[in-house]
Amino acid sequence: MANLSRRDFLKVGKSFLAVTGLAVVLGPIIAFFYPSNLEETPSDPVLIGPESELGEGESKTVRFGRYPAIVINTSEGLRAYSAVCTHFACIVKWDLQRNEIVCPCHDGFFSPHTGEVISGPPPRPLDPIHVEIVDGEIYIGGAA
Ligand code: FES
Repeated sequence: MANLSRRDFLKVGKSFLAVTGLAVVLGPIIAFFYPSNLEETPSDPVLIGPESELGEGESKTVRFGRYPAIVINTSEGLRAYSAVCTHFACIVKWDLQRNEIVCPCHDGFFSPHTGEVISGPPPRPLDPIHVEIVDGEIYIGGAA
């Protein structure tokens, strides 16, 4: 390594960038054609974590089967929704200042209490997910 010339170092750097770039481009394409075996929606409840770690006004985005879910401790209690926007499937985020769930792609806004569309282009509410607390732990999904 001590005898590595500047030219060799640049070659290594270029190769590294080429491989990394290839992985960035090909990764999503491969994932599209060969999706993982994750369930669309898990049949069993998914553990989110201790209730004490999600204070009022806080949220957590977690993997829920193939797609993410958003769990929010609202002023009216815990709520969970699919984090996939019903417009063009961008991932929604919690905005504490606005007290709304926001889709950054086309300014879609949803109620944290019901998932209903407040404004913007989404055609329907976020898909709700059952939330349950068992022995102080938050679980989502797994029940009607
Ligand atoms: S994808 Fe969410 S508002 Fe368009």
